[in-house]
Amino acid sequence: MGTFPWKRSHNNSEVFRMTQANWWQHGVGYQIYPKSFLDANGDGIGDLTGITEKIDYLDKLGVDFVWLCPIYKSPGIDNGYDIADYRSVDPQYGTMQDLDTLIKELHRHNIRIVMDMVLNHSSDQHQWFLQAKQDINSPYHDYYIWKKGKNGGTPNNWTSLFGGSAWEYNRATDEYYYHLYARQQPDLNWENPHLRHEMHEIIKFWIKKGVDGFRLDAITHLKKLQTFENVDNPDQASRNIPGIEVFLRELKNIYDHYGVMTVGEVGAVPPESAIKWVDPQKGYMDLLFQFDHVNFGDNHKFDFATKSIPTVRKKLTDWQIAAAKQGNLGLFIENHDLPRAVSYFGSEEPAYRNRSAKAAGLMYFMMKGTPFIYQGQELGMINDHITSINEVTDIDSLRHYQERIKDGYNTQMALHEIAFKGRDNARTPMQWTAGSLAGFSTTTSWIKVADSYKTINVASEEKSSNSVLNFYRQMITIKKSDITLQNGQYMLEKTRAKDLIVYRRFDTQATWLIITNLSNLTYNYPLPQDLASQPYHVILKNDGYITGNQSKISLDAWGAVLLKFE
Ligand code: GLC
Ligand code: CA
Repeated sequence: MGTFPWKRSHNNSEVFRMTQANWWQHGVGYQIYPKSFLDANGDGIGDLTGITEKIDYLDKLGVDFVWLCPIYKSPGIDNGYDIADYRSVDPQYGTMQDLDTLIKELHRHNIRIVMDMVLNHSSDQHQWFLQAKQDINSPYHDYYIWKKGKNGGTPNNWTSLFGGSAWEYNRATDEYYYHLYARQQPDLNWENPHLRHEMHEIIKFWIKKGVDGFRLDAITHLKKLQTFENVDNPDQASRNIPGIEVFLRELKNIYDHYGVMTVGEVGAVPPESAIKWVDPQKGYMDLLFQFDHVNFGDNHKFDFATKSIPTVRKKLTDWQIAAAKQGNLGLFIENHDLPRAVSYFGSEEPAYRNRSAKAAGLMYFMMKGTPFIYQGQELGMINDHITSINEVTDIDSLRHYQERIKDGYNTQMALHEIAFKGRDNARTPMQWTAGSLAGFSTTTSWIKVADSYKTINVASEEKSSNSVLNFYRQMITIKKSDITLQNGQYMLEKTRAKDLIVYRRFDTQATWLIITNLSNLTYNYPLPQDLASQPYHVILKNDGYITGNQSKISLDAWGAVLLKFE
């Protein structure tokens, strides 16, 4: 790659100030799973001080903001997505002062901070719930969703996303409460204006602390079907239910008043209905994450269905087209709930890991939207290969495993499913060095370090100019410094090659072509006719790019190349 004259805009305070409005549109986000990032005090658990110690790493990577997964006080049933006190820091991560230091230091490096906000449910250990479940007359009782049983069973057939019924019996009040996730995560009752007010105040509390935005967890679920009738499909009970816009609009007024950005987790809602949520004028949030390109398997989320590249490119394109009309997308291929992208979209084979990590990265990064990188993705980290159920920590994987065993699966088969798709794959410690515990901790870590750390780690990738890490640094620099790659139009290039994802980004100034081969086959890609006579530059490539001329590009296994036409 050639050198780029552009610098990170925020190194220049003048430009930084000028681009402050809608900063998230031109930036790159980095998602941190605090429990697994860096353990600074040697208790085996990542912490806030650990993150502060690595700000230089984030700065050198070139990211503009950090999305911090939940660090609030929590029993940790779902690693912090079960909040017991929305205004505090869990002692395992440090103190409020440590968080203040982190925010201050990030800002000193011109890196913004986006907090994960879990509005849909609390922990069953939250004071509200502890009172609600004891006393039907408590003002907190109506902060949650209660129904009487029917015919000696649950109030209706609604199910939990973590398996089984969504209703849990509570003896003290002889009622059931609703939980979309684990039974230790009771859903909050957004119909109650006092609850809504309470949540609004929590949001303001964090804004006043200086955070720059929120990632809105499970945000499509705030409204439940008020008839509480049986449904044919679980989504009909609590996904994108009409009336949700009232709650979302109230929230949006707060974000707008204080000028904070929001990115919503908007799974399983079609582009036509979801995209209006991010409409710049009328929307309810700034960016959304959709999940169509990472959900295969129609039966359940651990389904082993093979992914199909034509489906991936179609789904991504549908969203690109919808967003061109209305709003802004968060772009990603990994997060804390998904398998590692190399294992899912690429190849773990040593000969192909580096290339396929880059191909999958380039594939999504240059689309229109704000790219997010999940910790370790920039190294090309791969799934951990668990061999025993004793290694599993994730509540959802454990639950699925137990269900399978009950259904008569043998342990190997049950393990096989969660080994590939289980959420622990993303949650093994960040791999900093080839040394003991990957440099993550000095004591036994809360979750096993993945075996790959000896070859895949920051220290070794720092040293190699051809590393996945350096490729990510280049992608970030390129995207952030090019107006066409930020704002230009998106167009999918038609190809009969089933493993290629090729698209164009263009405006009146420039045309870029992104060509990625997501397979171990070799392909010749004929350039689109209208571009075939135009000179171009190869701006970025991986080892799978063989050659290119005026009419075609030759790609080896997992080849990827970024072209700029004059
Ligand atoms: C979101 C989070 C996931 C969590 C769930 C319940 O999907 O990403 O990790 O388990 O919400 O809060
Ligand atoms: Ca620690």
